Amino acid sequence: MQNLKIGIVGLGRLGKRHAENLVHRVSGASVTAACSIVEDELHFARNTLNIRDTYQDYDAMLAQADIEAVFLVTSTSLHAEQIIKALEAGKHVFCEKPLALNVEDCQKVVDVAARYPQQIATIGFVRRFDPSYAEARRLIDAGAIGQPILVRSQTVDLDDFAEFQIPFTATSGGFVHDMWVHDLDLARWYLGSEMTRAFAIGGCYKHKGFEQYNDADNASALCQYANGGNAYFFASRTAQHGHDTRTEIVGTEGILKIGHTPSATRVQICDRAGARTECVQDFFGRFEDAFRIEAQAFVDCAHTGTAPICDLKDAMAATSDAVILTQAYKTGEVVG
Ligand SMILES: NC(=O)c1ccc[n+]([C@@H]2O[C@H](COP(=O)([O-])OP(=O)(O)OC[C@H]3O[C@@H](n4cnc5c(N)ncnc54)[C@H](O)[C@@H]3O)[C@@H](O)[C@H]2O)c1
Repeated sequence: MQNLKIGIVGLGRLGKRHAENLVHRVSGASVTAACSIVEDELHFARNTLNIRDTYQDYDAMLAQADIEAVFLVTSTSLHAEQIIKALEAGKHVFCEKPLALNVEDCQKVVDVAARYPQQIATIGFVRRFDPSYAEARRLIDAGAIGQPILVRSQTVDLDDFAEFQIPFTATSGGFVHDMWVHDLDLARWYLGSEMTRAFAIGGCYKHKGFEQYNDADNASALCQYANGGNAYFFASRTAQHGHDTRTEIVGTEGILKIGHTPSATRVQICDRAGARTECVQDFFGRFEDAFRIEAQAFVDCAHTGTAPICDLKDAMAATSDAVILTQAYKTGEVVG
Protein backbone atom coordinates (compact mmCIF):
# COMPACT_ATOMS: atom_id res chain seq x y z
CA MET A 1 0.00 0.00 0.00
CA GLN A 2 1.33 3.44 -0.97
CA ASN A 3 1.57 6.10 1.73
CA LEU A 4 -1.27 8.63 1.77
CA LYS A 5 0.24 11.94 0.58
CA ILE A 6 -0.88 14.73 2.90
CA GLY A 7 -0.71 18.52 2.76
CA ILE A 8 -0.90 20.10 6.20
CA VAL A 9 -2.36 23.59 6.48
CA GLY A 10 -1.63 25.73 9.54
CA LEU A 11 1.48 25.07 11.65
CA GLY A 12 0.62 27.20 14.65
CA ARG A 13 0.16 26.12 18.27
CA LEU A 14 -1.55 22.82 17.38
CA GLY A 15 -0.61 22.45 13.69
CA LYS A 16 3.07 21.94 14.61
CA ARG A 17 2.08 19.07 16.90
CA HIS A 18 -0.12 17.45 14.27
CA ALA A 19 2.67 17.81 11.69
CA GLU A 20 5.19 16.14 14.01
CA ASN A 21 2.76 13.27 14.64
CA LEU A 22 2.04 12.78 10.94
CA VAL A 23 5.74 12.83 10.04
CA HIS A 24 7.11 10.72 12.90
CA ARG A 25 4.35 8.68 14.54
CA VAL A 26 1.61 7.86 12.02
CA SER A 27 2.05 4.94 9.64
CA GLY A 28 0.83 4.83 6.04
CA ALA A 29 1.22 8.59 5.53
CA SER A 30 3.75 11.03 4.05
CA VAL A 31 3.48 14.76 4.55
CA THR A 32 4.63 16.09 1.19
CA ALA A 33 3.28 19.65 1.40
CA ALA A 34 2.67 22.34 3.99
CA CYS A 35 0.83 25.64 3.85
CA SER A 36 0.82 28.61 6.19
CA ILE A 37 0.63 32.37 5.90
CA VAL A 38 3.53 32.57 8.39
CA GLU A 39 6.96 32.15 6.76
CA ASP A 40 8.60 30.96 10.03
CA GLU A 41 6.15 28.05 10.11
CA LEU A 42 7.10 27.06 6.56
CA HIS A 43 10.76 27.28 7.52
CA PHE A 44 10.01 24.84 10.37
CA ALA A 45 8.20 22.54 7.93
CA ARG A 46 11.11 22.50 5.46
CA ASN A 47 14.03 22.45 7.86
CA THR A 48 12.80 20.49 10.86
CA LEU A 49 10.30 18.13 9.25
CA ASN A 50 11.81 17.87 5.75
CA ILE A 51 8.48 18.65 4.09
CA ARG A 52 9.32 19.14 0.45
CA ASP A 53 6.74 21.57 -0.94
CA THR A 54 5.66 24.63 1.02
CA TYR A 55 3.04 27.21 0.10
CA GLN A 56 1.81 30.51 1.51
CA ASP A 57 -1.33 30.25 -0.58
CA TYR A 58 -3.89 27.50 0.09
CA ASP A 59 -5.41 27.60 -3.42
CA ALA A 60 -1.93 27.19 -4.92
CA MET A 61 -1.28 24.15 -2.71
CA LEU A 62 -4.54 22.54 -3.79
CA ALA A 63 -3.83 23.25 -7.45
CA GLN A 64 -0.16 22.26 -7.56
CA ALA A 65 0.85 19.90 -4.76
CA ASP A 66 1.00 16.15 -5.30
CA ILE A 67 -1.35 15.29 -2.38
CA GLU A 68 -4.38 13.07 -1.78
CA ALA A 69 -5.45 14.51 1.58
CA VAL A 70 -5.54 17.83 3.39
CA PHE A 71 -5.05 18.22 7.15
CA LEU A 72 -6.52 21.58 8.23
CA VAL A 73 -5.26 23.10 11.49
CA THR A 74 -6.14 26.69 10.66
CA SER A 75 -8.18 29.37 12.39
CA THR A 76 -11.75 28.20 13.04
CA SER A 77 -13.31 30.99 10.97
CA LEU A 78 -11.64 29.49 7.85
CA HIS A 79 -12.62 25.84 8.29
CA ALA A 80 -15.84 25.61 6.26
CA GLU A 81 -14.49 27.37 3.18
CA GLN A 82 -11.20 25.45 3.25
CA ILE A 83 -12.95 22.07 3.64
CA ILE A 84 -15.21 22.81 0.66
CA LYS A 85 -12.21 23.77 -1.50
CA ALA A 86 -10.35 20.60 -0.53
CA LEU A 87 -13.33 18.37 -1.32
CA GLU A 88 -13.83 20.09 -4.68
CA ALA A 89 -10.14 19.54 -5.43
CA GLY A 90 -10.66 15.78 -4.89
CA LYS A 91 -8.90 15.47 -1.50
CA HIS A 92 -9.78 13.60 1.69
CA VAL A 93 -10.08 16.10 4.54
CA PHE A 94 -9.30 16.11 8.22
CA CYS A 95 -10.18 19.44 9.87
CA GLU A 96 -9.68 20.54 13.45
CA LYS A 97 -12.78 21.28 15.53
CA PRO A 98 -15.15 23.01 15.26
CA LEU A 99 -16.56 22.55 11.75
CA ALA A 100 -17.84 26.15 11.59
CA LEU A 101 -19.28 28.91 13.75
CA ASN A 102 -22.83 28.74 12.39
CA VAL A 103 -25.19 26.05 11.13
CA GLU A 104 -25.54 27.56 7.65
CA ASP A 105 -21.80 27.12 6.95
CA CYS A 106 -21.95 23.56 8.36
CA GLN A 107 -24.83 22.76 6.02
CA LYS A 108 -22.85 24.04 3.02
CA VAL A 109 -20.01 21.66 3.89
CA VAL A 110 -22.42 18.74 4.41
CA ASP A 111 -24.04 19.44 1.02
CA VAL A 112 -20.71 19.59 -0.83
CA ALA A 113 -19.40 16.46 0.94
CA ALA A 114 -22.52 14.56 -0.20
CA ARG A 115 -21.31 15.08 -3.79
CA TYR A 116 -17.99 13.37 -2.97
CA PRO A 117 -18.94 10.19 -1.06
CA GLN A 118 -15.63 8.49 -1.92
CA GLN A 119 -13.65 11.13 -0.02
CA ILE A 120 -13.28 11.06 3.77
CA ALA A 121 -14.30 14.26 5.57
CA THR A 122 -13.98 14.32 9.34
CA ILE A 123 -13.64 16.81 12.19
CA GLY A 124 -11.13 16.33 15.00
CA PHE A 125 -13.10 15.86 18.19
CA VAL A 126 -9.99 14.50 19.84
CA ARG A 127 -11.56 13.35 23.11
CA ARG A 128 -13.39 10.58 21.23
CA PHE A 129 -9.93 9.09 20.52
CA ASP A 130 -8.59 9.34 24.05
CA PRO A 131 -8.37 5.76 25.39
CA SER A 132 -10.28 6.64 28.60
CA TYR A 133 -13.11 8.49 26.83
CA ALA A 134 -13.32 5.67 24.25
CA GLU A 135 -13.45 3.07 27.04
CA ALA A 136 -16.31 4.98 28.70
CA ARG A 137 -18.25 4.81 25.44
CA ARG A 138 -17.55 1.06 25.18
CA LEU A 139 -18.79 0.53 28.74
CA ILE A 140 -21.97 2.54 28.07
CA ASP A 141 -22.63 0.51 24.89
CA ALA A 142 -22.11 -2.69 26.95
CA GLY A 143 -24.77 -1.52 29.44
CA ALA A 144 -22.32 -1.12 32.34
CA ILE A 145 -24.09 1.90 33.88
CA GLY A 146 -27.62 1.28 32.62
CA GLN A 147 -29.20 4.26 30.92
CA PRO A 148 -26.94 7.35 30.88
CA ILE A 149 -28.94 10.26 32.31
CA LEU A 150 -26.41 12.99 33.16
CA VAL A 151 -23.12 14.12 31.62
CA ARG A 152 -21.16 16.48 33.85
CA SER A 153 -18.17 17.76 31.90
CA GLN A 154 -15.62 20.53 32.13
CA THR A 155 -12.85 22.16 30.13
CA VAL A 156 -10.53 24.11 32.36
CA ASP A 157 -7.41 25.89 31.12
CA LEU A 158 -4.40 27.13 33.01
CA ASP A 159 -4.57 30.84 33.81
CA ASP A 160 -1.28 31.44 31.95
CA PHE A 161 -2.95 30.88 28.55
CA ALA A 162 -5.64 33.57 28.97
CA GLU A 163 -3.48 36.27 27.39
CA PHE A 164 -3.11 34.07 24.26
CA GLN A 165 -6.84 33.27 24.29
CA ILE A 166 -8.04 36.89 24.32
CA PRO A 167 -6.97 37.82 20.73
CA PHE A 168 -7.64 34.20 19.66
CA THR A 169 -11.33 34.83 20.46
CA ALA A 170 -11.64 36.99 17.33
CA THR A 171 -11.47 33.85 15.15
CA SER A 172 -12.36 31.02 17.57
CA GLY A 173 -15.96 32.12 18.15
CA GLY A 174 -15.49 32.37 21.93
CA PHE A 175 -15.31 29.91 24.80
CA VAL A 176 -18.44 27.95 23.82
CA HIS A 177 -17.28 27.17 20.27
CA ASP A 178 -13.68 26.73 21.38
CA MET A 179 -13.95 24.88 24.72
CA TRP A 180 -17.49 23.64 25.40
CA VAL A 181 -17.84 22.32 21.85
CA HIS A 182 -15.80 19.32 23.08
CA ASP A 183 -18.11 18.79 26.07
CA LEU A 184 -21.19 19.26 23.85
CA ASP A 185 -19.90 16.60 21.44
CA LEU A 186 -19.27 14.21 24.35
CA ALA A 187 -22.73 14.78 25.86
CA ARG A 188 -24.44 13.88 22.54
CA TRP A 189 -22.11 10.90 22.10
CA TYR A 190 -22.73 9.49 25.58
CA LEU A 191 -26.43 10.40 26.00
CA GLY A 192 -27.31 9.35 22.44
CA SER A 193 -29.70 12.26 22.09
CA GLU A 194 -30.01 15.84 20.84
CA MET A 195 -29.94 18.94 23.01
CA THR A 196 -33.32 20.69 23.26
CA ARG A 197 -32.73 23.66 25.57
CA ALA A 198 -29.95 25.38 27.47
CA PHE A 199 -29.18 27.96 30.12
CA ALA A 200 -25.73 29.45 30.84
CA ILE A 201 -24.25 31.94 33.27
CA GLY A 202 -20.77 33.26 33.99
CA GLY A 203 -18.58 36.27 33.39
CA CYS A 204 -15.15 37.86 33.05
CA TYR A 205 -14.15 37.60 36.68
CA LYS A 206 -10.41 38.01 36.16
CA HIS A 207 -9.49 38.60 32.50
CA LYS A 208 -11.40 41.70 31.44
CA GLY A 209 -9.95 41.39 27.91
CA PHE A 210 -12.66 38.82 27.10
CA GLU A 211 -15.38 41.44 27.73
CA GLN A 212 -14.88 43.06 24.29
CA TYR A 213 -16.14 39.75 22.80
CA ASN A 214 -18.94 39.35 25.39
CA ASP A 215 -17.06 36.17 26.32
CA ALA A 216 -16.28 34.59 29.70
CA ASP A 217 -13.33 33.39 31.73
CA ASN A 218 -15.58 31.20 33.92
CA ALA A 219 -19.05 29.87 33.08
CA SER A 220 -21.56 27.10 33.80
CA ALA A 221 -24.40 25.67 31.73
CA LEU A 222 -27.34 23.35 32.22
CA CYS A 223 -28.79 21.59 29.17
CA GLN A 224 -31.69 19.25 28.51
CA TYR A 225 -31.76 16.47 25.88
CA ALA A 226 -34.66 15.06 23.85
CA ASN A 227 -34.53 11.66 25.62
CA GLY A 228 -34.74 13.29 29.07
CA GLY A 229 -30.98 13.34 29.65
CA ASN A 230 -29.23 16.33 31.22
CA ALA A 231 -25.80 17.89 30.94
CA TYR A 232 -23.92 20.27 33.20
CA PHE A 233 -20.87 22.01 31.79
CA PHE A 234 -18.18 24.16 33.39
CA ALA A 235 -15.46 26.15 31.61
CA SER A 236 -12.65 28.11 33.17
CA ARG A 237 -9.63 30.04 31.98
CA THR A 238 -8.27 30.84 35.43
CA ALA A 239 -7.02 27.49 36.79
CA GLN A 240 -3.84 27.76 38.83
CA HIS A 241 -2.96 24.04 38.91
CA GLY A 242 -3.06 22.94 35.24
CA HIS A 243 -5.31 21.87 32.38
CA ASP A 244 -8.22 20.10 34.08
CA THR A 245 -10.54 18.38 31.60
CA ARG A 246 -12.82 15.84 33.29
CA THR A 247 -16.14 14.18 32.59
CA GLU A 248 -18.61 12.17 34.65
CA ILE A 249 -21.43 10.11 33.17
CA VAL A 250 -24.22 9.22 35.60
CA GLY A 251 -26.36 6.23 34.61
CA THR A 252 -29.29 4.46 36.23
CA GLU A 253 -26.96 1.59 37.29
CA GLY A 254 -23.62 3.29 37.86
CA ILE A 255 -21.30 6.24 37.25
CA LEU A 256 -18.22 6.60 35.04
CA LYS A 257 -15.59 9.22 35.93
CA ILE A 258 -12.86 10.22 33.49
CA GLY A 259 -9.78 12.21 34.41
CA HIS A 260 -10.81 13.47 37.83
CA THR A 261 -7.26 14.24 38.91
CA PRO A 262 -5.26 15.86 36.07
CA SER A 263 -1.98 14.22 37.12
CA ALA A 264 0.96 14.45 34.74
CA THR A 265 2.48 11.24 36.19
CA ARG A 266 1.59 8.58 38.80
CA VAL A 267 4.03 10.06 41.31
CA GLN A 268 2.56 11.52 44.48
CA ILE A 269 4.81 14.02 46.28
CA CYS A 270 4.37 13.87 50.04
CA ASP A 271 6.22 16.55 51.98
CA ARG A 272 5.61 19.41 54.40
CA ALA A 273 3.36 21.11 51.81
CA GLY A 274 1.04 18.08 51.85
CA ALA A 275 0.40 15.23 49.41
CA ARG A 276 0.03 16.18 45.74
CA THR A 277 0.75 15.30 42.13
CA GLU A 278 2.15 17.44 39.31
CA CYS A 279 -0.61 18.35 36.82
CA VAL A 280 -0.69 18.42 33.02
CA GLN A 281 -0.32 22.02 31.88
CA ASP A 282 -2.20 22.20 28.59
CA PHE A 283 -4.59 20.31 26.31
CA PHE A 284 -1.69 18.72 24.44
CA GLY A 285 -0.18 17.35 27.63
CA ARG A 286 -3.53 15.73 28.41
CA PHE A 287 -4.44 14.50 24.92
CA GLU A 288 -1.04 13.84 23.29
CA ASP A 289 -1.79 10.18 22.72
CA ALA A 290 -5.32 10.90 21.49
CA PHE A 291 -4.04 13.32 18.82
CA ARG A 292 -1.78 10.56 17.47
CA ILE A 293 -4.58 7.97 17.52
CA GLU A 294 -6.94 10.46 15.83
CA ALA A 295 -4.44 11.17 13.00
CA GLN A 296 -3.80 7.44 12.50
CA ALA A 297 -7.58 6.84 12.34
CA PHE A 298 -7.95 9.45 9.59
CA VAL A 299 -5.14 7.92 7.52
CA ASP A 300 -6.62 4.42 8.00
CA CYS A 301 -10.10 5.64 6.94
CA ALA A 302 -8.63 7.25 3.80
CA HIS A 303 -6.86 3.97 2.92
CA THR A 304 -9.80 1.66 3.60
CA GLY A 305 -12.83 3.87 2.91
CA THR A 306 -14.13 3.14 6.43
CA ALA A 307 -16.48 5.80 7.83
CA PRO A 308 -14.85 8.00 10.49
CA ILE A 309 -16.22 7.84 14.06
CA CYS A 310 -17.00 11.57 13.93
CA ASP A 311 -18.82 12.52 10.74
CA LEU A 312 -19.85 15.94 9.47
CA LYS A 313 -23.37 15.58 10.88
CA ASP A 314 -21.94 15.02 14.38
CA ALA A 315 -19.79 18.11 13.90
CA MET A 316 -22.76 20.13 12.63
CA ALA A 317 -24.77 19.10 15.71
CA ALA A 318 -21.93 20.22 17.97
CA THR A 319 -21.86 23.62 16.24
CA SER A 320 -25.65 23.90 16.42
CA ASP A 321 -25.51 23.21 20.18
CA ALA A 322 -22.66 25.72 20.55
CA VAL A 323 -24.73 28.39 18.77
CA ILE A 324 -27.64 27.77 21.17
CA LEU A 325 -25.40 27.80 24.22
CA THR A 326 -23.61 30.98 23.08
CA GLN A 327 -27.00 32.66 22.71
CA ALA A 328 -28.05 31.38 26.13
CA TYR A 329 -24.86 32.80 27.68
CA LYS A 330 -25.13 36.16 25.91
CA THR A 331 -28.84 36.69 26.66
CA GLY A 332 -29.11 35.05 30.06
CA GLU A 333 -32.29 33.36 28.77
CA VAL A 334 -33.24 29.70 28.47
CA VAL A 335 -32.78 29.01 24.74
CA GLY A 336 -34.30 26.15 22.78
N1 LIG B 1 -8.69 19.63 19.50
C1 LIG B 1 -8.21 20.51 20.36
O1 LIG B 1 -8.18 20.25 21.56
C2 LIG B 1 -7.67 21.81 19.85
C3 LIG B 1 -6.73 22.51 20.60
C4 LIG B 1 -6.22 23.70 20.08
C5 LIG B 1 -6.68 24.18 18.86
N2 LIG B 1 -7.61 23.47 18.17
C6 LIG B 1 -8.14 23.98 16.88
O2 LIG B 1 -7.08 24.06 15.94
C7 LIG B 1 -7.24 25.22 15.11
C8 LIG B 1 -5.93 26.02 15.14
O3 LIG B 1 -5.69 26.43 16.46
P1 LIG B 1 -4.24 26.91 16.92
O4 LIG B 1 -4.31 27.07 18.38
O5 LIG B 1 -3.18 26.04 16.35
O6 LIG B 1 -4.20 28.37 16.23
P2 LIG B 1 -2.95 29.23 15.75
O7 LIG B 1 -3.47 30.62 15.64
O8 LIG B 1 -1.76 28.96 16.59
O9 LIG B 1 -2.65 28.67 14.29
C9 LIG B 1 -3.46 28.97 13.18
C10 LIG B 1 -2.70 28.60 11.93
O10 LIG B 1 -3.52 28.88 10.79
C11 LIG B 1 -2.68 29.41 9.77
N3 LIG B 1 -3.48 30.19 8.83
C12 LIG B 1 -4.27 31.26 9.12
N4 LIG B 1 -4.84 31.72 7.97
C13 LIG B 1 -4.42 30.90 6.98
C14 LIG B 1 -4.67 30.84 5.57
N5 LIG B 1 -5.48 31.73 4.97
N6 LIG B 1 -4.05 29.87 4.84
C15 LIG B 1 -3.24 28.99 5.45
N7 LIG B 1 -2.96 28.98 6.77
C16 LIG B 1 -3.55 29.94 7.52
C17 LIG B 1 -1.66 30.25 10.52
O11 LIG B 1 -0.52 30.44 9.74
C18 LIG B 1 -1.40 29.34 11.71
O12 LIG B 1 -0.43 28.39 11.34
C19 LIG B 1 -8.46 25.98 15.65
O13 LIG B 1 -9.56 25.69 14.83
C20 LIG B 1 -8.70 25.40 17.04
O14 LIG B 1 -10.07 25.32 17.38
C21 LIG B 1 -8.11 22.30 18.63
